[in-house]
Amino acid sequence: MLFLQFALLVVLLPGGDSKDDFQEPTSFRVIYSSSFYNPSRVQALGSAWLGELQTHGWENHTGSFIFLRPWSKGNFSSEELTEIEKLFRTFNIEFNQIFHNHASQWQLAYPFQVQLAMGCELHIGEASVGFARIAYQGSDLISIQNNSWLPSPKGGSRAQQVSGRFNLNKVFLETWHRLLTDTCPRFLLGLLDAGKADLQRQARPEAWLSTGPSPAPGHLMLVCHVSSFYPKPIWVMWMRGKKEQQGTQQSDILPNADGTWYLRKSLDVEAIEADGLSCRVRHSSLEDQDIILYWEHRSSTGWIFLAVIVPLVLLTVLAFWLRKRWTRCEPPSNLISLE
Ligand SMILES: *[C@@H]1O[C@H](CO)[C@@H](O)[C@H](O)[C@H]1NC(C)=O
Ligand SMILES: *[C@@H]1O[C@H](CO)[C@@H](O)[C@H](O)[C@H]1NC(C)=O
Ligand SMILES: *[C@@H]1O[C@H](CO)[C@@H](O)[C@H](O)[C@H]1NC(C)=O
Repeated sequence: MLFLQFALLVVLLPGGDSKDDFQEPTSFRVIYSSSFYNPSRVQALGSAWLGELQTHGWENHTGSFIFLRPWSKGNFSSEELTEIEKLFRTFNIEFNQIFHNHASQWQLAYPFQVQLAMGCELHIGEASVGFARIAYQGSDLISIQNNSWLPSPKGGSRAQQVSGRFNLNKVFLETWHRLLTDTCPRFLLGLLDAGKADLQRQARPEAWLSTGPSPAPGHLMLVCHVSSFYPKPIWVMWMRGKKEQQGTQQSDILPNADGTWYLRKSLDVEAIEADGLSCRVRHSSLEDQDIILYWEHRSSTGWIFLAVIVPLVLLTVLAFWLRKRWTRCEPPSNLISLE
């Protein structure tokens, strides 16, 4: 947590050339998963991600890629992309066949799930790193190390057998190696360049306050919502003056459908201490103009109170005033009775 805050400070500190240093996202990942329902039925899904942004889908019937962004082809030619599509189609068929064919030998019980993640990571000033991992029922099974598949320590004898099978086909291994160490980093660099305008855009956060369910009698759960911001790094805190409030709780940072992010920070306080608290939002798009929202006593009961009491007071004042005027215009009542 401390490290995260420090990282944010570095990114958000004015003066630093943060936009050039800010090289996220720097990994490209293909995710592929197969659900094996029975010996003759498998369902496969595939997608590709630049950091946390999905860039590609996969049409599993035709085996073609779906380019989700205008820049999803990076700088690759249609020929090279068609070539990769063909590889992926072959891979899809062989991969699923291997698992079906060895289901009893490897003691895979239907229905089961096999997941694959493969791709590459760029580190500033270093060579790119390729990776490929396969999991069975959500647990690591085998991964590529130094151009061959190694069993995961926790995978037991099943992992040994699977890695042995995957290492049999030398051509297959060479193809993997080329994809991870040459194709992937080239494609990733091209993507980062083609998508630059989109990836380096700045979207300003919107913020609003609400109350959550009361945590205890006499307590309030103050909630600060922050949405529609991009990029993801953000700093949000409940404050009293300049003092950060301990006990501020953070939700996960969740994706909005448009690729921006959403976050919630809550604080459990005694109701009488809520006044004077503020929610402060710092984000690269705001430069150093933080958003500050002050909590005022404006819970719904407060509003109802005001909505009822204010008109009542006004009416009473009006009634008194009218009565006063009325009695002043009228002749004294004793005179009337004398007539
Ligand atoms: C293809 O994907 C769809 C969901 O997008 C799924 O319903 C279907 O079963 C899949 N087909 C195959 C052959 O994997
Ligand atoms: C990979 O190979 C290098 C040298 O080629 C070696 O130093 C390293 O230990 C190997 N790593 C694994 C996990 O086998
Ligand atoms: C795409 O861009 C990358 C990085 O600039 C470069 O290495 C590569 O040669 C370019 N073209 C292709 C077809 O990969």
